[in-house]
Order: sequence, then structure tokens, then C-alpha cells
Amino acid sequence: MHIIVHTAKCQGHARCWFQAPEIFKLDEDGYILPGNIDVAAGNEFRASRGARSCPERALEITRS
Ligand code: F3S
Repeated sequence: MHIIVHTAKCQGHARCWFQAPEIFKLDEDGYILPGNIDVAAGNEFRASRGARSCPERALEITRS
């Protein structure tokens, strides 16, 4: 599972980080860092929960 990070949509809500801080890294201003995320199998539940928590839809889950 991968998460495509749409940095231009991020408004710094940090809900993703609150759900899974080891998966979603923020910069010093609280915005998601650029770069897509490769999620390990054991982290998929928390990663998807964090991605879905973003109100700006900045985190797109892909299974490919
Ligand atoms: Fe940004 Fe959404 Fe996370 S706005 S900090 S990607 S919850």
C-alpha cells in the first residue's frame, strides 16, 4: 500500500500525524513533508485511518 501525498492540498491540520506520527512526517510548520509514502503491511490500518482523517483529501491511498 502506498499513500500519494498531495502537498499543495495540505493545510497543516496534522490529523494524519495525530493518528500515526511515525508514518506521517510534518515539517516545522506542521505541513506534511513531500514524497509519497510506502506503507509496511503491519502499518496499513493506521496509515489508512490517518490518510482518511485529512479533511483536505491531501493523502490518497493506492494499492498499486
Ligand atoms: Fe496536512 Fe491533512 Fe495531514 S491537511 S498535516 S495532510 S491531516
